[in-house]
Amino acid sequence: MHKNFWQDQLKLHEKLCFLAPMDWYGDSAYRQSMKRIAPHIYCISEFYSADGLIHSKFLADSVLPHQSIEDPLIIQIFGKDPEVFAKAAKIISDPKYNIAGIDVNMGCPAKKVVRSWHWSSLLINEQTAFDIVKSLDEATHLPISVKTRLSFDWNQDLVHFAQWLQKSWAKLVTIHGRTAKQAYTGNADFTNIYELQKNMDIPVIGNGDVEHYDDGMSKVQNLSWFMIGRRSFWNPWCFLPEATHSTPEFFRDGCYQPTLWEMLEAMEFHASQLVATKWERKWSLEIRKHLVQYIKSFPGVKDFRKRLVTTESIEQTRETISDIRNTFESKLTSRPWLGEIE
Ligand SMILES: Cc1cc2nc3c(=O)[nH]c(=O)nc-3n(C[C@H](O)[C@H](O)[C@H](O)COP(=O)(O)O)c2cc1C
Repeated sequence: MHKNFWQDQLKLHEKLCFLAPMDWYGDSAYRQSMKRIAPHIYCISEFYSADGLIHSKFLADSVLPHQSIEDPLIIQIFGKDPEVFAKAAKIISDPKYNIAGIDVNMGCPAKKVVRSWHWSSLLINEQTAFDIVKSLDEATHLPISVKTRLSFDWNQDLVHFAQWLQKSWAKLVTIHGRTAKQAYTGNADFTNIYELQKNMDIPVIGNGDVEHYDDGMSKVQNLSWFMIGRRSFWNPWCFLPEATHSTPEFFRDGCYQPTLWEMLEAMEFHASQLVATKWERKWSLEIRKHLVQYIKSFPGVKDFRKRLVTTESIEQTRETISDIRNTFESKLTSRPWLGEIE
């Protein structure tokens, strides 16, 4: 990968869709689960501490290796010290990890960390924000991007901030259409993001409350690209475009409605990829939260719920999924989200 990676993508893809970086979700297994169904999306990892990466080889070797299906993969990091970022960039840029870019988190509103001058507090600590981007840019051959919000509390000038990021050699910025103070309240507003793109030479990604691919396409307007976060929870199908899909008749409200078979397959794939990348106890605690959610719209899940939320091993999980398949053999091609199973 190289510094012009995003400009090249811009020439190749007029409108691109991204999976948002999401802590507790965006690990390798989650990203693979999304890309298996929607190979056209680009993934940004959940955030990792720049400090953590330079002090823990274990962390680097756990979170940077990934499968080729996830490529091109962007790794998101957070911190507050430009020198620490530079050291982390050198680790991430090691060719053995094959990472396509580094994204800096300047948007997270969690109070504890904002008070310690990380994340969205960089919106009011502008010089440090620019120094971080410059320092990263000098430390690596990878393109640097930034994900941030409209402002911290409406007292900051987004265009000024983003133009300085660009001058500090950021090659891409993502804007979540809320202020940090708003956290997740109210609706995401794209108006200022459209305005920003008019003032920028680099691509701007619009983010916030995008429901599915076609919703993103209607909101993207003059922006380069768009990003989907929460709507992808247990729903990789949200990334599928209706117009070019082979079975548009199975879309409702802009989203593809999978069959029970497809849901079970997605669960099994997620579980298997997660076990391949996490040690067993951590795996079992994490997969429990995902499994039931995949099929929560399926009434028959109640009889299997307990087994799914207490699973201890991949073998047990496969056995439960196989029992669901056998119990509902005649309904595997029905679509629970369309109410086809009573
Ligand atoms: C559970 C969760 C974890 C998140 N973790 C991150 C993160 O690690 N880095 C980041 O930049 N944003 C993070 N975000 C914010 C999302 O990337 C995105 O900006 C936000 O959810 C709005 O997009 P959406 O409405 O499509 O979900 C997180 C959001 C959620 C819900």
